[in-house]
Amino acid sequence: MDNTMENMVIPQHVALILDGNGRWAKKRGLPRSMGHKEGCVTVEKTVEIAARMGIKYLTVYGFSTENWKRSKEEVGALMQLFRFYMVRLLKIAKNNNVRVKMIGERNRFDKDIVEGINRLERETKDNTGLTFVIAVNYGGRDEIVRAAKKMAEEVKMNKLNPEDITENVFSGFLDTAKMPDPDLLIRTSGELRLSNYLLWQLAYTEIYVTDCLWPDFSKEELEKAIAAYNKRERRFGGVQTK
Ligand code: IPE
Ligand code: IPE
Ligand code: MG
Repeated sequence: MDNTMENMVIPQHVALILDGNGRWAKKRGLPRSMGHKEGCVTVEKTVEIAARMGIKYLTVYGFSTENWKRSKEEVGALMQLFRFYMVRLLKIAKNNNVRVKMIGERNRFDKDIVEGINRLERETKDNTGLTFVIAVNYGGRDEIVRAAKKMAEEVKMNKLNPEDITENVFSGFLDTAKMPDPDLLIRTSGELRLSNYLLWQLAYTEIYVTDCLWPDFSKEELEKAIAAYNKRERRFGGVQTK
C-alpha cells in the first residue's frame, strides 16, 4: 500500500453502483456494448485492487431487475460479456484468494450462465480473502419480496413463529444473509439515486458519488472515496461515535 492510504480506515464492506458505461462509449462514438466491455476490465482491476487493500466485501451492481428493459441487442451483449468474464473471474479469484458470491434471482438467466455462477461460487467458497459479491438480476425490492415469501413458507410449515421475526431474522432471509451491511456506497457517473440497490442493507451506509465514468474508475478514484469516507462521522442515529 502506498503512503496516501497510510492511517486510513479501510471500510470493511464497499458497495458499488458501476454506472456510465454507455456514456463512456458515446463520448468516443462507440456502441454501448464497447462501454460494457471496458467496464468489465475495470471490474477485474477493481477486484484485485480491493483485495490488496484489505477490503473484506466488495459488492457490485452488475445487472438490475430493471435492466431487462434495455434493447434486445444490449441485453444480449451483456449476457455474452457475462459468459466470457465469468471464466476469467474464476482465474482471478483463484489467484487472489477471492471468494465469489452472486446475489439476485439467477434462475432468469440461461442455463449455462446459471451453471457458470454456481461453479464460480462452488470453486471459490473456501477462499479467505476478499468476498466479491456480484448483484445480477438484482433488485432491492425483489430481494425483500423473495425474503418475505420464504418467511411466509416457513410460517406455513410451522418452522417460524411470526412473533419471532426481528430485523436480524429478516436479514437472514435476504440474499446477503451473514454479510455485514456496506460501510461505503460508491456510485460512478454522478447520478444521485439508489436505482433499487441494496435498499435494506444501505440504511446507514455512507454515500459517495463521483462524476468519473465507470470504465475510467481506478485505484486513485477508490482511494479518493475511502479518504472521503475517513472524514465522515458515522452516527447510526445516535449522537457521536468517535
Ligand atoms: C452501467 O452502465 C452498466 C449497467 C447498468 C449494466 P450504463 O449502461 O447504465 O451506462 P449509462 O448510464 O447509460 O451511461
Ligand atoms: C444501475 O444503473 C444498475 C446497474 C449499475 C447494474 P442504471 O443505469 O440501470 O440505473 P438508472 O437507470 O440510471 O437509475
Ligand atoms: Mg446507467
